[in-house]
Amino acid sequence: MTNTPRISTPLDRATLRTAYAAALEAYLIRPEEITLSGAYELGRQALHDGLGPLELVSLHESAVERLAGFLREPDHPIITRANTFLMESLSPFEMTYRRFLESNVALRSLNEALESQSRHTARQIHDGAGQILFSLQLALAEVMARLPHQWKPEIEKAMQLADHLDQQLRGLSRDLHPVALDDLGLNAAVRHLLDGVATRTGLKVAFHSSVPDDLPPQITTCLYRVIHEGVTNVVRHAHATKLQVSMERGQEGVLSTITDNGIGMADEATQPHGLGLRGMRDRLKGLHGELELQSSSGAGTQLIISIPFAFRENANGN
Ligand SMILES: Nc1ncnc2c1ncn2[C@@H]1O[C@H](COP(=O)(O)OP(=O)(O)OP(=O)(O)O)[C@@H](O)[C@H]1O
Ligand SMILES: [Mg+2]
Repeated sequence: MTNTPRISTPLDRATLRTAYAAALEAYLIRPEEITLSGAYELGRQALHDGLGPLELVSLHESAVERLAGFLREPDHPIITRANTFLMESLSPFEMTYRRFLESNVALRSLNEALESQSRHTARQIHDGAGQILFSLQLALAEVMARLPHQWKPEIEKAMQLADHLDQQLRGLSRDLHPVALDDLGLNAAVRHLLDGVATRTGLKVAFHSSVPDDLPPQITTCLYRVIHEGVTNVVRHAHATKLQVSMERGQEGVLSTITDNGIGMADEATQPHGLGLRGMRDRLKGLHGELELQSSSGAGTQLIISIPFAFRENANGN
């Protein structure tokens, strides 16, 4: 058995290369379980050190070149042995990839469960508490109409409180789940969101969409949430005068952009750590989607969001 290093600190490439060649040589000379375990250990070390599978294959190729003496005869069983060693060293990558797919499926189920719970609670507030409150507002208005003049200021105060409560409940319901998404569909819900932003902030807003309303519900909810956060960030941080939102349907999936002409950011890593951008990436990851952020100081920001249609098949590893 070679002196294959146990995983501790990262190894430099030259040391890893030498260790790989030594472990491969040991296995070629003595093809047993114990020497083969060197391949697995090296694969783990490479994974731990941040190498990709292609870099590991390149380590393997240079080790094979160093051992060219063994390989003079092309039919020599050693070639098959070297391949076995390579496959074994790649198995930690394979296992990590499978775990990644599994955790993606788990993440998506969790997101769906949370979303479904939020949708239920939002409906309860919107249709249940909201409608009782509406009846209360009507009752107060009726009392107001019948009362003598000197009592009206008191009832007016109560009516203002009820209005305030109504706004709070609507805000809460909207944050939990965009009921507008169920009632209006994706396109009208995004337009409604942007109209509200334009009215409240004075931002000049442009919206273009070629996506249908009947996308899979996971994509619709994810896209709406991500656009909502992107637009909220523009309002809160960008100091922009213009905002452009697009949603395009492509062959493979949906592509959406959110562009502002605001202050931009020099480097995302140096920005205050909020939950927004991280939450967007987590949501998208669950659907094998991606968020790309293009920005530089003073030159505005563009978010490019992509979500593939084939997320279900990919999640099963097909
Ligand atoms: N469109 C934008 N223009 C300029 N800066 C931005 C823009 N979007 C995000 N940022 C910067 O990136 C930071 C991180 O954004 P993120 O949404 O993750 O967090 P947040 O908005 O600060 O807080 P949270 O979303 O958790 O309420 C922001 O604080 C801001 O500095
Ligand atoms: Mg934010």
